[in-house]
Amino acid sequence: MEIQHHFSLKKHNTFGISAFAKAYTATKSLPQLKEALGFYHNEEVFLLGGGSNMLLINDVQKPVIHVLLEGIEITKTEDDNVWIKVMAGENWHNFVLYSIENNFAGLENLSLIPGNVGTSPIQNIGAYGVELKDSFYSCDVIDIKTLEEKTLSLDDCNFGYRDSIFKNEALGKYVITSVTFKLKDLSKSNDYPFKTSYGVIQEELKRLDGELSIQKVSQAIINIRSSKLPDPKVIGNSGSFFKNPVIKRKLYEDLVRMHPEMPFYDIDQDHVKVPAGWLIDQSGFKGKRYGDAGIHDKQALVLVNHGNASGQEILAVAHKVQKAVKDRYGINIDTEVNLIDQ
Ligand code: EPU
Repeated sequence: MEIQHHFSLKKHNTFGISAFAKAYTATKSLPQLKEALGFYHNEEVFLLGGGSNMLLINDVQKPVIHVLLEGIEITKTEDDNVWIKVMAGENWHNFVLYSIENNFAGLENLSLIPGNVGTSPIQNIGAYGVELKDSFYSCDVIDIKTLEEKTLSLDDCNFGYRDSIFKNEALGKYVITSVTFKLKDLSKSNDYPFKTSYGVIQEELKRLDGELSIQKVSQAIINIRSSKLPDPKVIGNSGSFFKNPVIKRKLYEDLVRMHPEMPFYDIDQDHVKVPAGWLIDQSGFKGKRYGDAGIHDKQALVLVNHGNASGQEILAVAHKVQKAVKDRYGINIDTEVNLIDQ
């Protein structure tokens, strides 16, 4: 096992923050991963995947274990269903492209989401009416303390909006080593309910020629995302920085009287979800820049690093945004991105 000291994490977080790991080890196989976990069994470790959903506020003092396990394998087929086991270190979008090329349906709406497969269940990634949980079958994990290997089912993971067991009762308990998806093999059946109800998808599909297919839906999503969301290779970011807040319907009704154009999604009888991007945009932050830290000019939900912003500078902008939204609308917006402070 090779340990690197004072290892730069700049290339390993999509925000492009310059921060260092006191100790860093890359693991490319299950035995290597277990060896690293065993080596650090007395310490709390920091597990690194694609680095796409975190803001490094300081150097990382905990030993960093980078999970780089690779491999995609079809484990079962039955009728028009196919089960695919994907190792945690595979890039999410590359796996989506693999599924599209093979005509396996289910993930096309989740095209171009940054990050790795192994971290996708933690926040139950979602976009355009589809969430990871809709295609998730199970995931293999290692218990960090006991090194015991386990398989967790869909029910075990307790998925919610950008939420799962891994953010709650199992926080810090497991390393996810692979995820198994259950997809529809469209070469065996064309009975498949496309999820294209979002207005923006409909519009983009109209612009693209040809019959409806998962390839076409994926291309539409890629076009939409690339036009609104910054490419982390060009400008550092972690996608949506905040979650869309769920508020009491009563509060929404009071607010909508003053702001009749306020968008909302129904949650249940007593609650609605309001887009944080709209709240931030209306508070005047879209495209604002404070040194190298700022708010994206096409989607106010995304904070960006224009070059050499520090984690603290991005965090300061986040706090400014949260305070302004609270003062204007009385709504707290929570971060979706994990804030790494030690
Ligand atoms: N809006 C504005 N100004 C903005 C941004 C948004 O007015 O700067 C308004 C839009 O006009 C629209 C509403 O807010 O009426 C919602 O915006 P959008 O459809 O772009 O989606 P979102 O709620 O901002 C969520 C997810 C995205 C996902 C999209 C599409 C969260 C926190 N974000 O964004 O996920 O791609 O829906 O389904 O739920 C991510 O998690 O990194 C991510 C990008």
